[in-house]
Amino acid sequence: MTSAPETKAGPDLRVSFAEIELKNPIIAASGTFGYGVEFEDVVHLDKLGGFVVKGLSREPMIGNPPPRLWETAAGMLNAIGLQNIGASAFLEEKLPRLRQIKNIVVFANVFGHTREDYERTIEILNDGEGIAAYELNVSCPNTAQGGVQFGCDPRSLDEVVTTAKRVASRPLIVKLSPNVTSIAQMAHIAQEAGADAVSLVNTFVAMAIDAKTRKPRIANVTAGLSGPAIKPIALRMVYDAAHAVSIPVIGMGGISTAEDVVEYMLAGATAVQIGTASYWDPCATEKIVDELHAWCEDQNIMRLADLTGGLIVE
Ligand SMILES: Cc1cc2nc3c(=O)[nH]c(=O)nc-3n(C[C@H](O)[C@H](O)[C@H](O)COP(=O)(O)O)c2cc1C
Repeated sequence: MTSAPETKAGPDLRVSFAEIELKNPIIAASGTFGYGVEFEDVVHLDKLGGFVVKGLSREPMIGNPPPRLWETAAGMLNAIGLQNIGASAFLEEKLPRLRQIKNIVVFANVFGHTREDYERTIEILNDGEGIAAYELNVSCPNTAQGGVQFGCDPRSLDEVVTTAKRVASRPLIVKLSPNVTSIAQMAHIAQEAGADAVSLVNTFVAMAIDAKTRKPRIANVTAGLSGPAIKPIALRMVYDAAHAVSIPVIGMGGISTAEDVVEYMLAGATAVQIGTASYWDPCATEKIVDELHAWCEDQNIMRLADLTGGLIVE
């Protein structure tokens, strides 16, 4: 009698933070993946570690006037201005469909113009079933009021995180702005105010000009830069933040390959998010999961989570 072929266990890609277990560390970033439902025909949503829905506010927002996007060398400028359907409509129109899809992890990104806005938006979302955690967007550079105003001032950051933590019925991830002098200080403030994890980075304030017309490429004049152009700076910020806090760090900025993911994990990230890459390939998130699996096999990595913070500095 021949014995059954030995089954070789594949690499374990699971990661966990704030008591949430993900099947792998790949999370689609807010604002680049709609409300998830728009991607269900192109990406196997259940193959991803999770996804973060577009920033949600208390009331619907129409966003900024066009043009709102501009491609740069190795990156993208956007000034969408938090266009979204509002937290209540998300619960009524999008979440029921997401609830029908098995084995997915949904994160809700929360935005407010004022502290009360953040509070109320979270209260609305607390009524929705099937949201794993909130990601507090205190870092959007594209709105006249709110967002980055909170994320760039230590006192405001402390106040908004404290408020959000008090009302949130779910774990709270605080998404930090790179447009600060010390990312370590801001990460530490978020932690002390009750954040269960920090995610970084949001986009860098930037601009582009049409030399011939002498006009800005983006109607809002300034915009947020994302994509591979920001990766080395974002990676350094994740490294700095990870050394400043004991809570988990979720890294992002310009990730487009499995090796990019590994770099972020070595710098200290527990999980990562992928944004702009989905613009040039809507399947990028899922492809990177496959690539990561193959990379671990190739490198004899049995447990991906062991790489977090594993940078060797001699
Ligand atoms: C078009 C666009 C819209 C975005 N909207 C949001 C948003 O609603 N909330 C948020 O926290 N971040 C938003 N972001 C920032 C991304 O989630 C991410 O932090 C940033 O793009 C860096 O990652 P990347 O280089 O992989 O794109 C947006 C980014 C882009 C490109």
